[in-house]
Amino acid sequence: MSKPTIIFVCQACGAKARQFFGRCPECFSWNSLVEQSQVTTNSYRCRPIPNQEHSPAPRRSTTMASLENRPLQRLATGLVEFDRVLGSGLVPGSLVLVGGNPGIGKSTLLLQSASAMAAYTSVLYVSAEESAQQVKLRWQRLAGETSDLRLLTETDFGLVLQELEALRPAVAIIDSIQALHNSSLTSAPGSVGQVRECAASLQRLAKRQNTALLLVGHVTKEGMLAGPKVLEHLVDVVLAFEGDQFASHRLLRATKNRFGATHELGLFEMQAQGLAEVVNPSELFLSGARASGVATIVTYEGTRSLVVDLQALVNVTSYASPRRTATGIGINRLHQILAVLEKHMGLPLSRFDCYLAVAGGLKVEEPAADLGVAAAVVASFRDLTLPPDTVLIGELGLGGQLRPVSRLELRLQEAARLGFQQAVVPSGSGLAKLIVEMNLNLVLLEATNITEALVLVFGNEVRVDQK
Ligand code: TYD
Ligand code: MG
Repeated sequence: MSKPTIIFVCQACGAKARQFFGRCPECFSWNSLVEQSQVTTNSYRCRPIPNQEHSPAPRRSTTMASLENRPLQRLATGLVEFDRVLGSGLVPGSLVLVGGNPGIGKSTLLLQSASAMAAYTSVLYVSAEESAQQVKLRWQRLAGETSDLRLLTETDFGLVLQELEALRPAVAIIDSIQALHNSSLTSAPGSVGQVRECAASLQRLAKRQNTALLLVGHVTKEGMLAGPKVLEHLVDVVLAFEGDQFASHRLLRATKNRFGATHELGLFEMQAQGLAEVVNPSELFLSGARASGVATIVTYEGTRSLVVDLQALVNVTSYASPRRTATGIGINRLHQILAVLEKHMGLPLSRFDCYLAVAGGLKVEEPAADLGVAAAVVASFRDLTLPPDTVLIGELGLGGQLRPVSRLELRLQEAARLGFQQAVVPSGSGLAKLIVEMNLNLVLLEATNITEALVLVFGNEVRVDQK
């Protein structure tokens, strides 16, 4: 009925060829041909004509309202932080891709939650990278030999598929998708064609037998998920496991999630006994030291606020164009803030190098951090120290004005909970009343522009004309 054949498809124009070419014969793009297996069925010709006797009823469209409501069942992964990022648990039949740098802890995370899930449902752990003994040693250390977790160490994709079909587990872990080898293709494991074929078959299997699949994916040198972009389109959830390899904490975030929000952040700490959840995340990102150039901001990640320290170092440049580096904050944002400070506060920052870092390897993308960045830069430039109990919240406009930020009351709540005494915020937010109502022990310092805000924290000496 069907016979798989190998074809090479151009990823740029879709042209098909029977053999490999370094350059597409149709659109002339280089290295765009990818191996694929093609099942040659003429499905249109074989399909019976509808409405004849014995033929299956053709699929018809329905109205949304007439579809029955089926609440999503979720499986608890055993780690609250993991559940949070998935959107309160793993959805049966879903495909989840977990990417991250080598050695960051992907296998540890998945083995740990596999062991926890095996306590109440059937789980298969497929390891294509490590031997059974290696996995067992780790499992003994992590789970203390208490679960009914099943293990398969295999790299042949056909055999993995067979086992999945025979066992029909509720959850399966594939570690990793790049190490699997589909023998019907001639290309090496991890190549674009291989990864795509394996992932597409796994997706069909997940939907067919309602197995939740967690796939480990490697990342490239640039930090992108290895393999074709189509892999990210194919799966339901894409998670990135990040962190500084030299520090112990790890961050799990969703970049795509069909069953939940993508801005949630899971926080873990790598310990001798595996990954532990971080109970009080804000403390992780506070350096405690009150050196010059340190400012504290409150950022909002997913559904919670985090109090985070920023550190800046401003130094006279010895280059023709000053050096600017930012860790954890977009470099363009830093450039913009430096330009605003130069223009509106008269600071000659274009003759200074500027380095900026967020404590704890966190990435802060929201503009509410702008005021904190500006204060840290000015503090380092002037060799001033910010008051230790102050947080800064506000977006900086190009005209030097402070713009209001979202969810200010939740940010203030977190700051007050951690014992901060005062907060510099954009004025006009009408929060003074709210503070009284919320009974927060926090003094609000309202400012309309950057100069006002900095005078509030550093005093009048911060003005250029005062020096
Ligand atoms: P691993 O899960 O193998 O990383 P990945 O699968 O992403 O490549 O994690 C390896 C690192 O984690 C390794 O450097 C050691 C560390 N680790 C611990 O500190 N404690 C533990 O209990 C485990 C299992 C690993
Ligand atoms: Mg691994």
